[in-house]
Order: sequence, then structure tokens, then C-alpha cells
Amino acid sequence: MTVQPQTSYGSVQNLRYTFHMIANPSVTTAGQTTPVLDLAAQYATIGAEIRVAVDRVLNSQQFVLGREGAALEEEIARLCGVAHGIAVASGTDALILALRACGVQAGDEVLIPPFTFVATGSAVSALGAKPVFADIHPNTYNLNPAELERRITPRTRAIIAVHLYGLAADMDGIVAFARARNIPVIEDNAQAIGASYKGRRTGSLGDIACLSFYPTKNLGAYGDAGMIVTHSTELAGRLRTLRNHGQTAKYVSSEPGWNSRLDELQAAILRVKLLHLPAWQKSRQAHAAEYTRQFSQIPGVMPPIVPERYEHVFHQYTIRVEDRGALQTVLCDAGIGSAV
Ligand SMILES: Cc1ncc(COP(=O)(O)O)c(C=O)c1O
Repeated sequence: MTVQPQTSYGSVQNLRYTFHMIANPSVTTAGQTTPVLDLAAQYATIGAEIRVAVDRVLNSQQFVLGREGAALEEEIARLCGVAHGIAVASGTDALILALRACGVQAGDEVLIPPFTFVATGSAVSALGAKPVFADIHPNTYNLNPAELERRITPRTRAIIAVHLYGLAADMDGIVAFARARNIPVIEDNAQAIGASYKGRRTGSLGDIACLSFYPTKNLGAYGDAGMIVTHSTELAGRLRTLRNHGQTAKYVSSEPGWNSRLDELQAAILRVKLLHLPAWQKSRQAHAAEYTRQFSQIPGVMPPIVPERYEHVFHQYTIRVEDRGALQTVLCDAGIGSAV
């Protein structure tokens, strides 16, 4: 699906008009409101399976670093098309640990897009490093490879490319830029599990990628959860050490690490939901196609633009309009949820 941009909304400055909407008619609540997200409706369809999985963990009495977590790591790695998955406590922890594994230290600079969830930048700051903004492309809302050249300095130690709203960043340009300078590329894949770019899944496109399973994500846990995925056996080994107090063996900490282990209950819940993800994704894409078909007929509304050979998973269906305040009032009056 390719949609031509309406040129009057083509500049980054106009992002103040950005308006996010993920109303899904199939999850109407109480016959009158279309909420932005209705997890209760989802739970109603999978509750029985979830309770079986939770029981399995309770019966095992193994709560941390057990079989469920290991199985989930394999399953997510396979989905992303990489060799290794390292489950951690949140998407934010995934970013912090990925940055550390890539050697980012206090005083370093990391190139990130300015238009993302705050955690992309705060993960950099958490290490004492400096997030440096390289601007986005106004059609995709993702890092523009052409902007990297303007922002790189001798202190640049890594690049984080965010796949915002479920659409991949232009990874060919970003990775080519990084490879030529020997800089690692971290994908912030928190919003785009299952998306693909020119036939390859997000999460497999850089050196290391971070996922969030925050409850509202396309694959959401029943609490905080995250994962790091990578092709690199070396990085995976380091990350397993870092997420578990820097331990290379029981009570042997070879470096200062962290406690960021995904618990077994969340892993078991995520494994159930993962089985449904392909169908949920198709459903999101069908809804998005219908929205885009209809919005394309309305002057002044810019639907999401999906470049050729990108597969968008629509974590958010985001449109741009001139007067979002007025539109939000109309939507609110009609009982349709929306968010900026
Ligand atoms: C783009 C992006 N990066 C990072 C995160 C952080 O993930 P978490 O909330 O699991 O820490 C999120 C989600 O919240 C996100 O949307």
C-alpha cells in the first residue's frame, strides 16, 4: 500500500499537527464508545488459554530464568529472524543494556530521532551519555539517514533507529552510514514487532534490537517486560551476563551488571499471546487499510504513508491534520477514542 503525501503537510515543523488515532471498531465497548485500546475485549477471547499458562508456571514454582523465558527467547528470536533473544524486565532496560553491550559509556554521544517515546533518549542519558537528535523524515516519522551526516561527531558511539508506530525506519541508509564508520546500530523495535522492511523483519536489520512487551504493545504482557534480539553470539553472551548481576557463574560477577530478568509468568503469558499475534496483525492491517481508504478521500487528512516493500504493523494508526484539537472534539463527541 503506498499513499502519496499531501504536500501541505510535508514539513517537520508541521508535526505539531500530528494526531494519533487507533480507534478499532471491532472492540467497541458497551455499544457506545470506541476506545483507543480495549484489552478487556482481547482478554475475553484468550482468558482460558492464559489461565492454563499461568497455572503451569504456578505448578512449576520456577519464577525466574526458567523454561518459559527460554522458550519465549527462542520464539521471539525466530519471529525476528535472528539467532538470539535475551529476555529482560522492560523495553527501557533492553535499550540501556543494549547500549552498554555496544560499549556506550558516560561522555559518549548516541544519535537518535527526536520524535519517539522518551525512553529512547532516557536510556542513553541513564548511562551518562548524550542523546543527539538527528531529524526524522516527515512522511514516515522515522530517522532520516540524510540527517546523520549533519549530527555525527568524533564522540558518536552508536545510532538508535526507532521503528515508530509499527513502521520500519529506512534501515539501508542508516546501516550503510553506520558500517562505513564502524558504529553499531541499535533498533528500537518497541512498537514494531512483526513489521518488515524489504523482506526482512525489524529486529534483524541492525546489530542489536530492543523490544517492549508493555501491556499496550501489539504483543503485550500483563506487566512490564522486554527483550533484546541479536545475530551476534558474542553480544548475546554479554547481555545474559549484564541482565543477571554481571554473573558469569553463580555468585561470580565479572563486571557490574543489573537485575533485569523477565519473570516466568510474563513469559508464559506472552507465549500464549504470541500464537495470536499473526491474526491480530492481519486484523490491524485490515482496519488500517479501511481507514486509509476512507481518509484518503477527505482533504486535509494525511493517513500513514507506507513505502513500497515495507510492512507496517500499525501499533498506532497515526494521521496528520491541520486542526487536531477540533478533530479531537468531534471524535470525543462521537464516542471515538483518540490520543495525541
Ligand atoms: C519507541 C519506544 N521505545 C522504548 C519504549 C520503552 O519500553 P518499556 O515501556 O517497556 O520500558 C517504548 C514503550 O513504552 C517505546 O514505545
